Amino acid sequence: MISDESVAAAVDAALTAIAAAEDSTALKAARGAHVGEASVLSRLNATLRDVAKDQKAAAGKLMGQARARVAQALAERESEIVAHEEEVRLEAEFVDVTALPTRARAGARHPLSLLQERIADIFVGMGWEVAEGPELESEWFNFDALNFAPDHPARAMQDTFFIDPVESHLLLRTHTSPVQVRSLLSRELPVYVIAPGRVYRTDELDATHTPVFMQVEGIAIDKGLTMAHLRGTLEHFARAMFGEGAKIRLRPNYFPFTEPSAEMDVWQPNAKGGARWVEWGGCGMVNPNVLLSAGIDPEEYQGFAFGMGIERTLQFRNDLNDMRDMVEGDIRFSQQFGMVV
Ligand code: DAH
Repeated sequence: MISDESVAAAVDAALTAIAAAEDSTALKAARGAHVGEASVLSRLNATLRDVAKDQKAAAGKLMGQARARVAQALAERESEIVAHEEEVRLEAEFVDVTALPTRARAGARHPLSLLQERIADIFVGMGWEVAEGPELESEWFNFDALNFAPDHPARAMQDTFFIDPVESHLLLRTHTSPVQVRSLLSRELPVYVIAPGRVYRTDELDATHTPVFMQVEGIAIDKGLTMAHLRGTLEHFARAMFGEGAKIRLRPNYFPFTEPSAEMDVWQPNAKGGARWVEWGGCGMVNPNVLLSAGIDPEEYQGFAFGMGIERTLQFRNDLNDMRDMVEGDIRFSQQFGMVV
């Protein structure tokens, strides 16, 4: 029944619901509930036709005002909500044109690769060639052809990763020296090659050892090569690596594949804690038995060879404490070297 009270109650309920609506979804629900067909106001409006004629005008006016008030409240609330929602959206889409861009990070080459290439370049500059050999190597190239006796301790299971079954006589090469014989078998004499590459030993990973590491091997076979040529080559190499003040020192040693053999030290003039001698690698005059393994007459051809660890070289040359940093693949380690070592 349309009365001041019933209409006022319906309007109040509608205004409360409209005021309480926080977003467009809630407002839509309030609109449905309070002005939709099933709403109290609509149902009251429908009773207008039953109102007595003399009261119709007053009742119609009351209903009209009530519905206009609710419609206005809805319109006002709607524009508030739309404005608010737009503000929230703009804030979410805000672009700070003064912000620093997040650039894709530049990578870095690994310092071991850089050093390896630098070493190869030094020799290529002297007319040498770069050679490679397989990391999965036959025992013959790794040991026998290099004059290791069958019972030589370096063959022992503790040092060498042998491949199953042992009768395959395959192993992970323990040094780059097998490339010596491979190069002699596959090239015309004279041979001047440098062979950097990965080698494997059953060492635990610690600050100065890693089971996978890199060496660089050099071998020169020609007519009339002497220890003086070995010395001169290594001196040049040392100066190119460690600066003009660098020099080398040879101490007698034993390797099955060289005779005589020497341990080589380098005088590092620019070492961080002051100039010093550092053990750098091994070298010597190629043993005639190695030449014979490659079918070369030792009476006609002679030569020298040398080999050193690349990790170790990087370690003392660039003053690094822990070899593990070189193998862990943390890009922050490589980045401190940039693109040159
Ligand atoms: N192959 C040796 C090693 O792994 C290093 C070496 C010593 C290489 C003397 C040589 C050499 O070519 O003449 O310890």
